[in-house]
Amino acid sequence: MKISLMINEKEYVTHVKPEGMLIDVLRHLGFTSVKRGCDSSSCGLCTVWVDGLPILSCGYLALRALGKNITTIEGVQEEAKKFGTFLAEEGGDQCGFCNPGFIMNVIALKRQNKKFTDEEIKTYLMGNLCRCTGYASQMRAIQKYLEV
Ligand code: FES
Ligand code: FES
Repeated sequence: MKISLMINEKEYVTHVKPEGMLIDVLRHLGFTSVKRGCDSSSCGLCTVWVDGLPILSCGYLALRALGKNITTIEGVQEEAKKFGTFLAEEGGDQCGFCNPGFIMNVIALKRQNKKFTDEEIKTYLMGNLCRCTGYASQMRAIQKYLEV
């Protein structure tokens, strides 16, 4: 069926099957920053926002996003660039495959504009897996980013 979706404040018209997942629609439309890892809601790679809240697009029906605002990392470039600087400085930027989903969650955390303990940060990001960094460098980058 033909649907229109708002992605990064722009309207896109596309075709989708009733059982089609949002990740497939986004990647088909060229948002290849949305990465596919596990495809079973376990790795966090496919994280995007729907109405400002992080969701796993591999487990989210595209039809559920009708009438909502979808945001990918392309829609938050300035914030992503800023956090990316901290990530690079702390050595938390290696193969980079996990970055788009991870960064979407970190920016969502930052936008809550609150103080978080290390444990709260870890709990919030426990769904974002990374095969390269061991998480310590990412954690240092997040702590510094949340302070500015
Ligand atoms: S690809 Fe969606 S959570 Fe892994
Ligand atoms: S930097 Fe390679 S998976 Fe995270």
